Amino acid sequence: MISLTFCIYIDPAHALHDFQLKVELPKDFLNPVRYICFSPRLMALMFNLILFGPPGSGKGTQSEKLVEKYGLVHLSTGNLLREEIAGKTPLGMEAKNFMDKGQLVPDEVVIGMIDNSLDHHKEAIGFLFDGFPRTVAQAVALDKLLELKGSSISLVLALEVSEEELVKRLLNRGKTSGRSDDTHEDVIRKRFAVYQRETEPVAVHYKQEKKFQSIKGEGSVDDIFNTVCAAIDKKMK
Ligand code: AP5
Ligand code: MG
Repeated sequence: MISLTFCIYIDPAHALHDFQLKVELPKDFLNPVRYICFSPRLMALMFNLILFGPPGSGKGTQSEKLVEKYGLVHLSTGNLLREEIAGKTPLGMEAKNFMDKGQLVPDEVVIGMIDNSLDHHKEAIGFLFDGFPRTVAQAVALDKLLELKGSSISLVLALEVSEEELVKRLLNRGKTSGRSDDTHEDVIRKRFAVYQRETEPVAVHYKQEKKFQSIKGEGSVDDIFNTVCAAIDKKMK
């Protein structure tokens, strides 16, 4: 018996031109332009973005706007961990001990979470990784997980913001966010130190692969968003 599998992918950026059939759907059906394709090579056409940058640089803020525009699946390990804490799961309780001190949660815990999340979104046209990878070990693991799917990281965009601006933003957010790691300046400074020691080497990893690009992360949210979109659109072409 011969069976055919049809995959429907959303292409909001109109960047993927070479599929066999283009279908116009009503405007209120998530996104007006969709493509039906017949080839597994599409996996290689997934667009996988890492939004990189220190605590408070605007990764979460920009991610919200980017997933709306590009239809990527947003994977924030910080958000996933906070959901575990809110659900009072054993994983959440273990993670909280590290997060409250501004330390990183062990690699195997976050890599496992990302592995599960990738499996839960087999339909994704691409992923937006926010706050992951944060160590070189996580970056190597992510490369392998994507390779198993016949895919890879397309682009790493790093938001550059001065430390004083970051402290100001996080203390300000701490007044209303309920995030225990935003309330004390010493914990915030500890997060920066961890970022420099553990996470900055991840930039080197992606620079070697020529996938890394810095973006000025200060200014209005919309101006930064426009710059980020320009970098993505250029890469998608
Ligand atoms: P996580 O939740 O990832 O936090 P973070 O990286 O410390 O970053 P933030 O979420 O604080 O900042 P953001 O860059 O998202 O900025 P945002 O848009 O919110 O991680 C928390 C903890 O979880 C870690 O410390 C660790 O313990 C653990 N963890 C998470 N991932 C892990 C991993 N992979 N491995 C190990 N452990 C992990 O903006 C910040 C504020 O600024 C907001 O109030 C916002 O409104 C404001 N703002 C944004 N843009 C602007 C702008 N342009 N101008 C002015 N204000 C702005
Ligand atoms: Mg965030």
